[in-house]
Amino acid sequence: MEETSVQMLLVLSSLLCCTTNQALTASLTVSPSSSQMFKGEFVSLSCEEDDSSAGWMLRRNTTKETRAECGAKWGKTVHSSCNIGHIITMDSGVYWCESRERATSNSINITVTGGSVILQSPVLPVMEGDDVTLHCKTKTSNLPADFYKDGSLIGTEPAGGHMTIHNVSKSDEGLYKCNSSSHGESPSSWITVTDKPPTTALPPVSAALPTVSVAPPPASAPLQLVFRLVCHLVVFCPYFISTLVMVSLYRHRPAGNDLPVSMVTPPPTQAAERLAEEVDDIVAVTTEHHF
Ligand SMILES: *[C@@H]1O[C@H](CO)[C@@H](O)[C@H](O)[C@H]1NC(C)=O
Ligand SMILES: *[C@@H]1O[C@H](CO)[C@@H](O)[C@H](O)[C@H]1NC(C)=O
Ligand SMILES: *[C@@H]1O[C@H](CO)[C@@H](O)[C@H](O)[C@H]1NC(C)=O
Repeated sequence: MEETSVQMLLVLSSLLCCTTNQALTASLTVSPSSSQMFKGEFVSLSCEEDDSSAGWMLRRNTTKETRAECGAKWGKTVHSSCNIGHIITMDSGVYWCESRERATSNSINITVTGGSVILQSPVLPVMEGDDVTLHCKTKTSNLPADFYKDGSLIGTEPAGGHMTIHNVSKSDEGLYKCNSSSHGESPSSWITVTDKPPTTALPPVSAALPTVSVAPPPASAPLQLVFRLVCHLVVFCPYFISTLVMVSLYRHRPAGNDLPVSMVTPPPTQAAERLAEEVDDIVAVTTEHHF
């Protein structure tokens, strides 16, 4: 009776473990690393995952589609990437990776313009304290331009066409754009500023980097921890129960045997040996006895 329930618990716990132990994290990167792109550009997005068996898929929301999967109505899956050969303004939207269990990666906003100016700003959240460089550019060069945050002028760069915000803080979060007298205005892009994590050191964020990788959204970390905890609890419970069952069985052995009760060297009775064999998979019990 007891053995059956212990075995059932064990099967249940191993099933739980198999489903929860798989990776719940992935990070989405985009190349070129820009949140604004010109119509006609080649764009490659990829999910960098811990475990490909979790079935991470690239999805997007645009004005026309919701949770649309790469390869179905848009993009082309090539190895672990999703490529858009010739991006169009309708491809503007939010992109993310999602596993079969619906775990999600960081998301990236992409704006595709049919105009001649883009603001090149970091695609991924910027960490507090970092420097951020904004470029105002055409397809071929940087432009002398004005830079705006939430509609207010924050800087004029008549020469280079790029502006650096040093030591960013939460207050630098907002909607940025640039404007050049010769070519006009860029679309707007949101810049997110996150708290500096205590341990992980990420490379300095710069809009000029070809690809930038970032940790998954913080929400998935506690979730994973809870899964792990539950998993461990469920796994250790049968071990604990089976140990209790064995100890109690030995305690209730017929009297007359004055050997000390021990898990490691059980008395060589038939019942004990059968029990030991049956729970062999659960607890490492030595069935060989050396007297
Ligand atoms: C995509 O759209 C769905 C439905 O409107 C929404 O629930 C979801 O949060 C959106 N995803 C992202 C990453 O914005
Ligand atoms: C995407 O853009 C919207 C609105 O512009 C903003 O609220 C959101 O935080 C952005 N998401 C990311 C991941 O930057
Ligand atoms: C863009 O900049 C030019 C001068 O650099 C200015 O005349 C024009 O009004 C600006 N446009 C907007 C929409 O701010």
